[in-house]
Amino acid sequence: MKTSTELDSADPLARYRDRFLRDSDVVSYLDGNSLGRPLLASIERMQSFLTEQWGGRLVRGWDEGWLDLPARIGDDLGRVALGAAPGQIVVGDSTTVLLYKLIRAAVEARPDRTEIIIDRDSFPTDRYVVEGIAAERGLTVTWLGSKGGQPSDSGVTARSLTKKLTDNTAVLVLSHVAYRSGYLAEVPAITALAHEAGALVVWDLSHSVGVVPTSLDEWGVDLAVGCTYKYLSGGPGSPAFAYVRSNLQGELRQPIQGWLGAKVPFDMTQGYTPADGIRGFTSGTPPIIGMLALQDMIALIEEVGIDAIRAKSVALTEFAIALADDLLPDARLASPREAEHRGSHITLDRDGFDKVVPKLWAQGVIPDFRAPNGIRVGLAPLSTSFTEVELGMFAIRHPGH
Ligand SMILES: Cc1ncc(COP(=O)(O)O)c(C=O)c1O
Repeated sequence: MKTSTELDSADPLARYRDRFLRDSDVVSYLDGNSLGRPLLASIERMQSFLTEQWGGRLVRGWDEGWLDLPARIGDDLGRVALGAAPGQIVVGDSTTVLLYKLIRAAVEARPDRTEIIIDRDSFPTDRYVVEGIAAERGLTVTWLGSKGGQPSDSGVTARSLTKKLTDNTAVLVLSHVAYRSGYLAEVPAITALAHEAGALVVWDLSHSVGVVPTSLDEWGVDLAVGCTYKYLSGGPGSPAFAYVRSNLQGELRQPIQGWLGAKVPFDMTQGYTPADGIRGFTSGTPPIIGMLALQDMIALIEEVGIDAIRAKSVALTEFAIALADDLLPDARLASPREAEHRGSHITLDRDGFDKVVPKLWAQGVIPDFRAPNGIRVGLAPLSTSFTEVELGMFAIRHPGH
């Protein structure tokens, strides 16, 4: 195995680490997939927004660009990271709210069908939203994946789906990268299968956006949502994005009818008519302040290139797995070993890890704990060095030292 120093000196992306804000208390940050580190550029952007735009332009700012910002950032994100042509992505509500809007819109578009399919190992919010919509609309939920209560080391495959899809399936709700195992799903194959069965798919891209090259248009994806505070460094609670394929925009109707999703908002008319295009999937006043920082990360992804980011992500997770094999032989890798089936994080299971994580946090080594017994190591390629990974893995072996 190469040393961390050798890997860092050979890393073509090493220089980008200086673009991020660092705190000397943090020895090893292994949770970039929960909350990405801030970019230095965002300090300047936020300050100048406050003084020049908010302070200087006041309410005029809405007409001078703020109202267009959700769709403008959506177009940029589509171009640099998601393989989506303009006019199909909008930034706005939380991921949870956007999941609700898109899943509701999708089930309404399949009125004769009564089933939603979802994986038991999906992130809780995805499952809870699906259960809520099923109760609201009198639909049934079909669960994929692990039965014994233990989380799966992998995720949903096209093969596992073939027997599940029926004429009754309205919608599938799936993750591109599974939040616990890091399993990377075969989006084009699964989407094609669902379409053969007449169903729509809503993809959650929260753990892939910004680290896994994605071609939403080419893959025939119908609908997708994703977080911006993870690998997109948008900051705590920055708004999520939604993708609605252009040829579905006229057919689908989202359920939260607000004034800014209306055709002519400032006419203030009686009765709601949705706006044409992606704006019809918005509802209320966009959280402009929350959208500032993620623009810096989108610009950086464009500068570096998503393929180079993926290459470093693979190298970082390979290194973390090799270190875990070596240093933590009693921990079990609960993630795919093959890079092509893995996103940018790994999970290691071992009884007692719940007690280890608080000790690590106290010493500035910050991975995440995921129930029932997993340490999740999330590796943001642009801000993480191989040395940082090594320090972190050593600390997991000897917490408190
Ligand atoms: C897969 C996935 N979906 C959704 C969310 C969060 O949703 P929200 O932004 O509404 O809190 C997370 C958060 O970690 C997640 O991992």
